[in-house]
Formats: sequence, C-alpha cells, structure tokens
Amino acid sequence: MAIDKTEPMNPVHLFSHGSTMMLGEECLSGDYWKKCGDEALAQGIEHVVMMGAHWATSLPGILISANPKPEKSPVAYVDPAKYKSYKLNPDVGMVPTIKSHLEAGGITATADPTFNWIHDTYLILIRMFPGGSPPTTLLSMNHSYDPHFHMSVGAALRPLREKKHKTLFVGSGGAVHNLYRNIWEPMFLYRDNFARVNPPGSWALDFRQEVIDTICPAYEEEVPMEKASYGKKIVGKKGCGGLMLRRKATSLMKHPMYREAHATDDHFMATMFVAGLCGGEGDEDMRGEMGAEDWELTNMCNAQFTLGAY
Ligand SMILES: [Fe+2]
Repeated sequence: MAIDKTEPMNPVHLFSHGSTMMLGEECLSGDYWKKCGDEALAQGIEHVVMMGAHWATSLPGILISANPKPEKSPVAYVDPAKYKSYKLNPDVGMVPTIKSHLEAGGITATADPTFNWIHDTYLILIRMFPGGSPPTTLLSMNHSYDPHFHMSVGAALRPLREKKHKTLFVGSGGAVHNLYRNIWEPMFLYRDNFARVNPPGSWALDFRQEVIDTICPAYEEEVPMEKASYGKKIVGKKGCGGLMLRRKATSLMKHPMYREAHATDDHFMATMFVAGLCGGEGDEDMRGEMGAEDWELTNMCNAQFTLGAY
C-alpha cells in the first residue's frame, strides 16, 4: 500500500509485559505505559493494533482478533479487582482494513471471531488506558516464529502509521524473557516479583544491552556511561529505524546470547513486528528511547521502548 511521504507518521511502542504481576504492582514501567496512553489519547488516537506473545496460529499466516465480545483469560498473582471489571474494546470494524494491508503484502490473514484476550495485551491496555482504551485489534503470531515473516507483518501494516489513520501500534513481548532462568521463589513465596537476591546473570545483562543498542543507537553520546543511572531514560542520539533496524532486529535472534535470553521465541516476535513497522525508507531518523525498565524475578528485563514521536 502506498505511503504519502509528506504525511507524518505515528510512533510505535515496543513493551515488555513481564510477569502477570506487572498488572497490579507499582513500577516505572506502569508509569511509562500510562504516560504513553495519555499521550495517545491527547493525540486523538482512535485505533490500537497490538501483537502480543501468547497467541500463535499453526494455520498459514496470522489471525486477526474479530471477537465482538471477548472474555479475559484469568491472570495468576493479581487481585481480580484490578482487571475483571475492565471493559475490553474490540475494534471489529478495523479488521477488513488490516486484512487488506496484510494481503497486499502477501500475508495470509484470517479473522478469528472466537479469540479471547490474554494478559500479554490487556495487561498493557489497562495500564495505558485505565479509563478505557481506544478500539483495539490484536494480531496473532505464526507458530513458525520466523523473524523475517513477523517483520514483514509489521512492514505490511506500516502505511497505517500515517497520522491520518489515527492508529497506534504496540508490540508486547520481552527484552529478556526466559521463564526457565527466572528466579521464581520470591514471587511464589512472598508475592514479590521485583525481589533480587543476586544480580541478573551476565547473559541477561549482555542481551539487554544488545536490545538497547539496536533501538537507541549512540545513546552513550547523550548520557555518557559514567553518568548513566538506573531509572534514567535512555535516548538514542542517532536514528533507529529504516532498513538497518530490520537487519539489526532480526540479527538479534542469531546473537550468541539469544537462546539464553529467550528460551522460546514467542516473546521476541513483537520486536520483529516493530522492526517491520519502523523499517521502511523514511524511518531512518526515528528517535529511539527506552523510557523505563523493571527487572523481575532476577533475570527478566522488562524494558519499555518507543520508536518515533508524535
Ligand atoms: Fe508473556
């Protein structure tokens, strides 16, 4: 689909949803999600389109959520009062538009009228839009977890980033997300998901750095290493988008530490999706920021990124 090169493009969020407890606990990520939601509403966003990490299809291509009255799957370790009454706002009217863009990109897309929503997406929506979200469409992954395919899904939908479409794209996965390497005891025993008796593993720190270097290139020029501190926003000094982002993001899955950081590929597909959304010609100067991060369960890095700006 054609792009009007004079039309401004909306930013894209790449969030790490972490454990279910991120729905209910105060944290920097929650504050950042709320800030991003407030900005979206102030900018008149009317559609949210998300790819999460918990819905994959074995059919060809991907599925598009088209359930007019989806249920919420329950979440462990969270008071139901924090999510039960939240009204989901499915955007069934947006499905044909998304389907046509995907098919124009050669991607098979099938509407699924039965899908019920999972916490990887509605956790983020509740924290971004506590007063109610704009109409939202969810995209499944394909169970192949092919990085280039999921990047192409984002690329096919990139024209909808044009400001006139009033659409905000969100990828919900994880920067470092290996459930087999998490230290779960403090959460199981004390409901403390942020406890960290020992530092994160070097493999987790290394891979976190690779993700930041991909999305916030040359950030050290803005905040030199000796002035960096935990909780301080990281902003790339050089643009992060364009074709180089596609190459860098897909290459992360070949990084020597990748399999340590992601025992399964599901929580890294949103990164590929975002790389496609922000990986077109004209995206080279997009601003990349890591607006917040929280480490959970010792080794899980929940880094929150925004590419571009309103
Ligand atoms: Fe998840």
